[in-house]
Amino acid sequence: MCNKKKYYITTPIYYPSANLHIGNTYTTVAADALARFKRLAGYDVFFLTGTDEHGQKIQRIAEDKGVTPKEYVDEIVSGIRKLWDIMDIKYDKFIRTTDDYHIKAVQDIFKKLYDQGDIYKSSYEGLYCTPCESFWTETQLVNGNCPDCGRPVEKAKEEAYFFKMSKYSDRLIKHIEENPEFIQPESRKNEMVNNFLKPGLQDLCVSRTSFNWGIPVKFDNDHVVYVWIDALSNYITALGYGSENKELYEKYWPADVHLIGKDILRFHTIYWPIMLMALGLELPKQVFGHGWLLVDGGKMSKSKGNVVDPVVLVDHFGVDAVRYYLLREIPFGADGLFNNETFIKKINSDLANDLGNLLSRTIAMVDKYFGGVIQSPLVKEEIDKELIDLALATPKNVENSINDLKIPEALSHIWTLVGRANKYIDETTPWILAKDEEKKERLGTVLYNLLESLRFISVLVSPFLPSTSEKIKAQLNVDVATWDSLSAFDGTQGGAKVNKGEVIFPRIDVEAKLTELEALKAESVKEEVKPSMKPLKEEITIDDFDKIDLRVVKVIHCEPVPKAKKLLKLKVDLDGEERQVISGISQYYKPEDLIGKYVVLVANLKPVKLRGELSQGMILAASTDDDSKLFTVSIPGDLPTGSQVR
Ligand code: MSP
Repeated sequence: MCNKKKYYITTPIYYPSANLHIGNTYTTVAADALARFKRLAGYDVFFLTGTDEHGQKIQRIAEDKGVTPKEYVDEIVSGIRKLWDIMDIKYDKFIRTTDDYHIKAVQDIFKKLYDQGDIYKSSYEGLYCTPCESFWTETQLVNGNCPDCGRPVEKAKEEAYFFKMSKYSDRLIKHIEENPEFIQPESRKNEMVNNFLKPGLQDLCVSRTSFNWGIPVKFDNDHVVYVWIDALSNYITALGYGSENKELYEKYWPADVHLIGKDILRFHTIYWPIMLMALGLELPKQVFGHGWLLVDGGKMSKSKGNVVDPVVLVDHFGVDAVRYYLLREIPFGADGLFNNETFIKKINSDLANDLGNLLSRTIAMVDKYFGGVIQSPLVKEEIDKELIDLALATPKNVENSINDLKIPEALSHIWTLVGRANKYIDETTPWILAKDEEKKERLGTVLYNLLESLRFISVLVSPFLPSTSEKIKAQLNVDVATWDSLSAFDGTQGGAKVNKGEVIFPRIDVEAKLTELEALKAESVKEEVKPSMKPLKEEITIDDFDKIDLRVVKVIHCEPVPKAKKLLKLKVDLDGEERQVISGISQYYKPEDLIGKYVVLVANLKPVKLRGELSQGMILAASTDDDSKLFTVSIPGDLPTGSQVR
């Protein structure tokens, strides 16, 4: 047990987004196939995935929804975990960057880097959008304006901590040159070295003060750790680095492969190794940047209406069909296209025709000619050799391809065996053998060879198509399904009985299915079109309305809520009683604009705490749909406070 070779594989940790598309699932499906293959081949595997939950964007969405960021991410993350269940992803650990042990370890990492002089305090200068409280780079702007709200941006400065990247760049260049397998595929390595490392690295901004949904810098509480130190550290904190129990860290680090999309290669092949060098830790053995999954019309985006939803595909075609397409059709390392028609045609040809038919024909013949009983191979012939030799060679071929991270090639080796077995049926013509009583033993041998080839196939496909593998094994009545059992062509037991089952991949009517999917897409696009006015809410009676106690109040004091840039704390007078109200209107009003104003308060709303501050009611305001404009509802005259609004 202890001598098992270890294999530590990671996916990126995902941003909590409600709609992960088929492109997002690609990294995780590929990593899962690799992890499952290594487990099968006898490695001690640790497969890590998780979620990257901090940042201004999350804070803003949560504020808009009126929930805390943690409440917001909790819900999304549970959806992501469900998606991984649907995609049959078998991970060993799911890390969340909001996990306590991660937060503590990141704080310690940050402090260590600061104490040893790799992190220093300075200021960050950029283009700032005040209403959105966001810094942007020149290239992110749209027509010179904020890409989120379209309003003008202005140059601004913010105090921030920086990581001295350049200090380590020569060491990193040397490491990359001495370890050609470190960045893969090769083309991406050249891009990193020539475009980023050689021209010289900028120091990296690693903290922010303009939002607070992040890990607080331990020794300077106005700052939160900004993005990459928090996110990248997950690969070691998940193993217990920085905590009491470092057993997993000691066992599994360094990672054998970080599997990521090409968009985040720079962070993984430059910032991450430099962070590790600064911490005095070993570097991962390999970072593999896969290509982009494109759809007709280019990148997937909601506005183009071309987002492919993995759950819909799984509903219609089953999880293994989706896994097969991603793993077989997308050249690993390069961009690939997802298209419904090619997808369905591939299911029909490779899964229904080649694999499905091989299984159903074989089982049907064993059933018909031998009442389902598996015969021992008694009459061998020269013609069997080619099939048996290919079956015995295939595991090694698959293993070699996987070791080179060539997943489509690995599957193609398996399908060569599937094809060879189908050809063997045509060559040996069992239905003719069946007509001759004297050929009964030869017929039994032919069927044995087919069953045994299928046993090989069922084991070999298990990392890629786990549930199909189980279905095949059940029909074959396979007992031995280990990797080692593929070293001899004799695992199938004569005398046992096959279990005729359902067709594993029914043929799909391409035209009909495409029409069905098109209709579905049209439906979802329709749903997404924004109505010009929000639909009116359900009708209520005057008694319902009467339950709401609306009162005129006067704002007597107003100040910002520290660290919550959208919120203002108002003190209002309600007929002599002072109330405190927290209102998310600081983008639209300065405190001094509100003092003295008569506004309308929902006075009988249950008090709540917002950012730790008590809010006793809600100020009424009207705003545009996109929140670009907002006005409080105010009373132009001097009605006494406490007057009812009816
Ligand atoms: N949170 C960061 C990663 C931090 S890792 C320390 C992140 N998250 S993400 O949710 O945006 O992306 C997760 C993965 O999905 C990445 O590997 C990304 O490359 C991948 N993909 C997103 N869209 C994709 C396609 N259209 N095609 C293939 N992969 C794509 O980045």
